[in-house]
Amino acid sequence: MNKSETKASWTLEPIGYARTPFKETSQISKGIGAKHTREGTLELVPEMAEGLLDIEGFSHLFVIWIFDRSDTYELISSPPTDNRPHGVFATRSPRRPNPIGLTVVRLIGREGNKIRVRGVDMLDGSPILDIKPYLSSVPADELERGWIAEVESRSGRGEDRKWSDRT
Ligand SMILES: C[S@@+](CC[C@H](N)C(=O)[O-])C[C@H]1O[C@@H](n2cnc3c(N)ncnc32)[C@H](O)[C@@H]1O
Repeated sequence: MNKSETKASWTLEPIGYARTPFKETSQISKGIGAKHTREGTLELVPEMAEGLLDIEGFSHLFVIWIFDRSDTYELISSPPTDNRPHGVFATRSPRRPNPIGLTVVRLIGREGNKIRVRGVDMLDGSPILDIKPYLSSVPADELERGWIAEVESRSGRGEDRKWSDRT
């Protein structure tokens, strides 16, 4: 067992906050075919702004953030996309043991400590833990989409698959 396996917890501080049009979860589209096209701003705390040097060259970013309004978790989850339950780690459920969200957004522009992006699906004020360039090296023909592919084929939405690649 290495040293970090004996450590029980880590303290993470937000590097900033998401400014989005969504005040309530009901405003965020869900389910098969849901598209996240709304714009928002990733507003970093001023002392983190230097870490954005050279970010403008990337078209898409991973945003790692906290489901700060989830107060519980379920190991078996019933996503809105399916009428069958799935293990939480096979879903994008906000109710997870470590309430971490991961969203791929389109970078529109940067002004100082603020990055304008498209494709947000988090509530306004969600704390941001990290931002990384999105670089996918998995060939499309090697991707397997598990139970989501089954739902899409049952509902005839197999062609409309890009939504969940991005969320
Ligand atoms: C299905 S999750 C997917 C989030 C992210 N793309 C991911 O895969 O981790 C998105 C949903 O989480 C919920 N949500 C968004 N922001 C939240 C927050 N700050 N706290 C709790 N729930 C949130 C909303 O219901 C939203 O529709």
